[in-house]
Amino acid sequence: MPAITCKAPGKIILFGEHAVVYGRPAIAVPISQVQARAIVTANPSKESGEVEIQAPNIGLQARLKELPPDHPIAVIIEQVASALQISRLPSFTLRITATIPVSAGLGSGAAVSVATIRALSAFLGHLLPDEQVSELAYEVEKLHHGTPSGIDNTVITYAMPVYYAHRSGNGNIIEPFQVARPFTLVIGDTGVPSPTASSVGLVRQAWQAEKERFEHIFDEIGNIAQTARQVIEAGRSEALGPLMDENQALLHEMGVSSPELEALIQAARSAGAQGAKLSGGGRGGNMIALVTPESADSIAQSLRKAGATRIITTTVE
Ligand code: MEV
Repeated sequence: MPAITCKAPGKIILFGEHAVVYGRPAIAVPISQVQARAIVTANPSKESGEVEIQAPNIGLQARLKELPPDHPIAVIIEQVASALQISRLPSFTLRITATIPVSAGLGSGAAVSVATIRALSAFLGHLLPDEQVSELAYEVEKLHHGTPSGIDNTVITYAMPVYYAHRSGNGNIIEPFQVARPFTLVIGDTGVPSPTASSVGLVRQAWQAEKERFEHIFDEIGNIAQTARQVIEAGRSEALGPLMDENQALLHEMGVSSPELEALIQAARSAGAQGAKLSGGGRGGNMIALVTPESADSIAQSLRKAGATRIITTTVE
C-alpha cells in the first residue's frame, strides 16, 4: 500500500483573538507558506496494532503504546479509530513534520491534528469529511488549552478566510468569505515562544477579576472584526490598517502584548505599515503588519532590524 501524505496550512488571526473565546466574532486566514505534514506508511511485516510515531520537530520517536494516553498524538489516533469504529489498528508508521513554528500563534497544533486526522483516516480506508476533521481537531485543541474557541481548527481545515464565532451549545458561526481585493501582510516573529494555553489562562483570570471591563473590551473587538469583514468583502483593504491598530490597542489593554511585540509593531508602523497588531495568543509569538506590495521588503527589513527572528510575507486572497 503506498504511503498517504496529507498537509495542512498554518493560520493567522487577522482580528478578534481572545474575544473569540468569549463568543465574539473573529477573522482568520490560512498561511500556506508554513505547513504541517503527516505521512502514514503501512508496516505489513509487523504485528497488527504496532504503531510507530516519528515527530522529529519535537524530538519524538516512540511506539504508540509507550505514549501516555493523553498525549495529543495518541488522542488523535484514538479519535480517528473510534470515529471509524476500528477496534484493532493495523501496523503503520505515522511521521509528522512541520515548518510551522510551535507556540507562535500560527496554529501549529491544529495543523498537525488536521493533517494527521486526514492522513490516518484515508489510510484506514475512509477519508473523514471536513466537518468531522475539524470537530476531531477541536477535541485535541482542548488538550492544548482548555477553552479553545475552535477558530484555529476551523480555518486550517477549510483552508480559506473564515469569519467565525463560537456559540456554546448553539452551533458555531462558520462563514468562509471572499476577499474582494488581495492585500499583503508581513508576519514578524518575536522569537519568544508563548503557548496559547498560558495567554488564554491569563485573560481568563483578568476577566474573572474585572468582568465588566473585559466584556466591554471583547464587545469592541467583536465590532472591529465585523467591520473588518465588511471592509475586506468590499475590497477596501486600506481601511484595515486603522482597524488593526485599534484591535492592537485593546489587546494591549487586555495585557496580552509584550515589549518584544510592541517593538516590532512600532518598527512596522514607523517603516510605513498601514497598521499592525499581534496575532494569536500574544505575550510573544507573531505580529502582523498591513503593507503594500511595494513597501513589503523595506518593512520586512525594519522588522528584522528590530529583532524579528523570522519573516513571512503573504498575500491574502
Ligand atoms: C489562538 O490562535 C486564538 C485565541 O483566541 C485562542 C482561541 O481562539 O482558542 C487566543
